[in-house]
Amino acid sequence: MKVLIIGGGGREHALAWKISQSPVVKKIYVAPGNGGTALDNNIENIDITDVQELISFSIKQKIDLTVVGPEAPLAIGIVDAFRKNNLAIFGPTKAAAQLESSKEFSKIFMARHNIPTAKFATFKDTNSAHDYLQNNPAPIVIKADGLASGKGVVVAMTDEEAHEAVDSMLSEKIYGSAGTKIIIEEFLEGEEASFIVICDGSTILPLDSSQDHKRLLDNDAGPNTGGMGAYSPAPLVTDEVNKKIMDQVIIPTIEGMKQEGIEFSGFLYAGIIVDPYKNIKTLEFNCRMGDPETQPLLFRMQSDLFTVLFKAAKQELEGVEINWDNEHAITIVMAAKDYPTKPILGDEINLPEMQNEDTFIFHAGTSLESNKLMTSGGRVLGITAKGKTLEIAKNKAYDILRKVELDGAQFRTDIGKKALN
Ligand code: AMP
Ligand code: GLY
Repeated sequence: MKVLIIGGGGREHALAWKISQSPVVKKIYVAPGNGGTALDNNIENIDITDVQELISFSIKQKIDLTVVGPEAPLAIGIVDAFRKNNLAIFGPTKAAAQLESSKEFSKIFMARHNIPTAKFATFKDTNSAHDYLQNNPAPIVIKADGLASGKGVVVAMTDEEAHEAVDSMLSEKIYGSAGTKIIIEEFLEGEEASFIVICDGSTILPLDSSQDHKRLLDNDAGPNTGGMGAYSPAPLVTDEVNKKIMDQVIIPTIEGMKQEGIEFSGFLYAGIIVDPYKNIKTLEFNCRMGDPETQPLLFRMQSDLFTVLFKAAKQELEGVEINWDNEHAITIVMAAKDYPTKPILGDEINLPEMQNEDTFIFHAGTSLESNKLMTSGGRVLGITAKGKTLEIAKNKAYDILRKVELDGAQFRTDIGKKALN
C-alpha cells in the first residue's frame, strides 16, 4: 500500500512514523514533511501543497490512502476534491470541517443540539462588542471566529485585556479575515482534556485520553500556543468522564451533523473542560488530531493505524478496535526563541544519539539543509518518552531534552505536573 500524508508538523511526523510500521505499507510520502521525515529512510518528502497538484501526484503514484494532518487543507475542501477524483482520503469534508473552521458555526451547532458549552455571543461591530463587555466583566474569553493556528483566543483576566482583544481583532484585524467576526464567551473554570475519536460517518472509535499544555510558560502562564507538551493517558478522564464526553458531546455531534445532512468522517477532537464536580463542557472542536497530543497517543498505540484509517475511509470501522500500551507517554515541545509571537528561524539544531526504544524525537519546525538540521517553524521538536509511570516517562524525556543543542530554545519544565499531583 502507498500512503500520502498531508502536512509538515510534529503530528504529521508521528502519523508517518506510526503508519510506516504497518506491514502492509510499502511507501509513504509526506507533503511537505519536515526535517524528521526527511531523515527517515522509510519516508519520502514531496514539496507539494497545492490541492490539484496533490491530486495529480496521487493519481500518478497510485496512492491507496491519503491522511490529512492539519485543519487548513480540510477547511478549503481537500477531502471533497480528492473524493471527486475517486481517491481514498481520510478526513472531514469542507462542510463537516466547519466545526473547527468557524467557531460561530460550532457554537450555534452545539446550542441547537444541547451539547454543553460556554454561553456566548457573536460580534462583527467593535462598539457592540465593547458594550457587551460592560455588562459581562472579566474573566471572559475573546475568540476569533476563523482559523488562527490555535492563537486566536484571548483569555482575558481583566476588563482592560478584554477590550484590547476586541480592538486588536475587530479594528486592527491582527488575524485578518479569521477575525472579522468574534465570539465573546463565558470563562470556564476547570481542567482541560483532549478527547479524540475516529469516525467513518457512523461508527465512532474513541482514542485513549490525552492532555495538552496550551500556555507558553510553566504553571499555565504566558500566551496561548499551539501546545507546549502533552501526555497520554490523562487521569482526569476517568471512566465516568469518558462516558459523559461520549454521551453528551461526541455522539450528539456526529448524530446532529448527520441529521443536518453532513456526514462526519475523520478525526474529531473535542477540547473538554472538566469542573471539580466532574461536569463537562466543550471548549472547541477540531477536525483533526491534536498537535502535540498525537505524539504521545501514537507512541502508545499498539494497533496498526494504517489499517484502522483505511477501514475508516471505506466506512468499514464497525468492529475495529485499538489496543494501547499500558505505559504512559509524554511529549515535551521544544520551541524556537520568541515563539509564539515571532519565532526566530534558521538556527542549527544538534540532536543527541537515541539508543532507547522508549524514546523518540518527533520533528515539527525543522528542515534538512545540506545535511544540517535547521529550525523552520515555531515549535521545533517533540521530545517523547514512554515509561511504567508518567514520572518515569517525564524524567526520560527531560533527560533527552537537556542534550538537544538549540540556541534560545524554549520549553516548559512542568509538562505532566498536573497529572502527577
Ligand atoms: P480554543 O482554541 O477554543 O480551545 O481555546 C484555546 C484555549 O483557550 C483552550 O485550550 C483553553 O485553555 C482556553 N479557553 C478557551 N475557551 C475558554 C473558556 N470559555 N474558558 C476558559 N478558558 C478557555
Ligand atoms: N494541541 C491543540 C491542538 O492541536 O489544537
